Amino acid sequence: MCGIVGYVGNETGAKDIILGGLKSLEYRGYDSAGIALICKGKIEVRKKVGEISNLEKIVGDPSFDSNIGIGHTRWATHGVPSDINAHPHCNSDETLSIVHNGIIENYMEIKEQLVREHDITFKSDTDSEVIAHLLGVYFDECGDLQDAVARATKRIRGTYTIVAMSSREPDKIIGVRKDTPLVAGLGKGCNFLASDIPAFLKYSGQVYFIENGELVVVTKDDIRIFDTERNEIHRDVFHVTWDVDAAEKGGYEHFMLKEIHEQPAGIEETLTRRLDDDGLVNLDGINMTKEDISKFNKIYIVACGTAYHAGLVGKYAIEKMAKITVEVDVASEFRYRDPLVDEKTLFIAISQSGETQDTLQALRLARSKGARVLSVVNVIGSSVARESDDVFYTWAGPEIAVASTKAYTTQLVCMYLIALYMAKAKGTIEDAYYRMIINELKGIPEKLNMVFSQEKEIEKIAEQFHRQNEMFFIGRGVDSAVSLEGSLKLKEISYINSFAIAAGELKHGTIALVENGTVFFALATQDGLAEKMGSNIEEIKARGAYVIAVAKEGSRLIADLADNCIFIPKCADEVTPLLTVVPLQMFAYYVAKFRGCNIDKPKNLAKSVTVE
Ligand code: AGP
Repeated sequence: MCGIVGYVGNETGAKDIILGGLKSLEYRGYDSAGIALICKGKIEVRKKVGEISNLEKIVGDPSFDSNIGIGHTRWATHGVPSDINAHPHCNSDETLSIVHNGIIENYMEIKEQLVREHDITFKSDTDSEVIAHLLGVYFDECGDLQDAVARATKRIRGTYTIVAMSSREPDKIIGVRKDTPLVAGLGKGCNFLASDIPAFLKYSGQVYFIENGELVVVTKDDIRIFDTERNEIHRDVFHVTWDVDAAEKGGYEHFMLKEIHEQPAGIEETLTRRLDDDGLVNLDGINMTKEDISKFNKIYIVACGTAYHAGLVGKYAIEKMAKITVEVDVASEFRYRDPLVDEKTLFIAISQSGETQDTLQALRLARSKGARVLSVVNVIGSSVARESDDVFYTWAGPEIAVASTKAYTTQLVCMYLIALYMAKAKGTIEDAYYRMIINELKGIPEKLNMVFSQEKEIEKIAEQFHRQNEMFFIGRGVDSAVSLEGSLKLKEISYINSFAIAAGELKHGTIALVENGTVFFALATQDGLAEKMGSNIEEIKARGAYVIAVAKEGSRLIADLADNCIFIPKCADEVTPLLTVVPLQMFAYYVAKFRGCNIDKPKNLAKSVTVE
């Protein structure tokens, strides 16, 4: 949500650098964009509702450029998407400008006070504008931007990343954060602040992660980080290993398609990092002893959206292999009930971004109750990673498309490896079975190529059904967890109303919706459940449904019953989700393409959901 870019350098050029940075953050989701520069000693703001291309149309004037500026892509929370509500916002005399990501919970009370005591007129309906005016008042009182920002953070409540600059101190931008991300980039003769690394990766791979409550002062020459008491903090620089290409489309029409095809590499990398030469799972850097593992009597896996779906597969794997009860919870629900968590609980948070507010808050709740927290995260140094006892990184590389694909499959790999490790530590797994699962995992990247070879057929099926208004996904066992992910993929990028249900549940209500031409995806990859799935397919076909099945190669029973059948290569039932999900991702992709949807940036969605 909301993307922030701040730049200070030696020479003019800030406009293009900030615009480029905002484009790299488009994946976060936004509905308006804006930029503020200090031009000849005065703050100049340009902002526009809609795509960044709309903003580009109004910033062409060459005199609108500078060596310092801030930019923003807004995802509306308070106030509709509009030019006025777009960021940056300024104080009354326009000597100060801010951009903000997050929500200021007490903005109304601050606004009333500013109107009452300072006669300030507000232009927008946003909560963020109060920050600009509050800073303006404090700056007038103390004459120092850093002090003003520090004071403002004591007055506001909520979640925020704020970046501010003032024409009265035109050599610096100042950032501060609470619960939403902020990184600083160290360039040559220039420095950056941003919501995420891709915003400045073209210029700098040297990064400082700014922690909650910290304030960072950025000039062209240095980056200085302070705690709330204004003590300077030493922070090690993090060197980014992935390059700009990894965050670009590399010849694919969309990031989503590129990321679907990057899954073999992501899976391989995640496995390589955690498998020893002798084929055993290593949890190097994770401080979980055999004793710790045998102490756990319950595991909570908590996450949102796709990451939650990965958790559901994790439950199957952990319960089957390590014989520990696993509960999988949606983070926004977990945090508002009274979950039974104590020192014997292992809490596993799964999050691609590591910044999802609900997951982060659930994690904090679990920690406060004494749970041990292990997170499965893709973004190194993110909030979830930093606040966990241990981190199991997925090595998917940067995922830019809003629809998660390679993050999901690498999260699944982590779930299997955690299950195997715990099972071995507890002695609940036979050696041969352990080795068999490891070999199956190692074989997945190769098998994915066979799935990719059916891309054309999947595209054809997508063309046939892209005008559909609704679709259903069914499965049994672990296929029922994957059906949820297939359904989410389809609805989020194609806007088709799709619904996933455990196949056995159909006849308890949902079958009432089946009529001539109703389209079903039937996932039938589990050897032991093939006949049961066959019966479910018969039941819906008898009522006129059109069935597209996903089954293992050679599964004649399912192929004969279904109208179309997409095959995955033969493999152990346990690991099928790593293969089954891919045709579903491709189907969603092509349906969305035939419908002319904005695939990488679906409407109303954001990549990183940093508000509750
Ligand atoms: C799915 O395609 C979405 N991107 C969404 O459901 C996502 O998985 C969810 O918002 C959780 O995000 P996280 O993994 O960054 O925590």
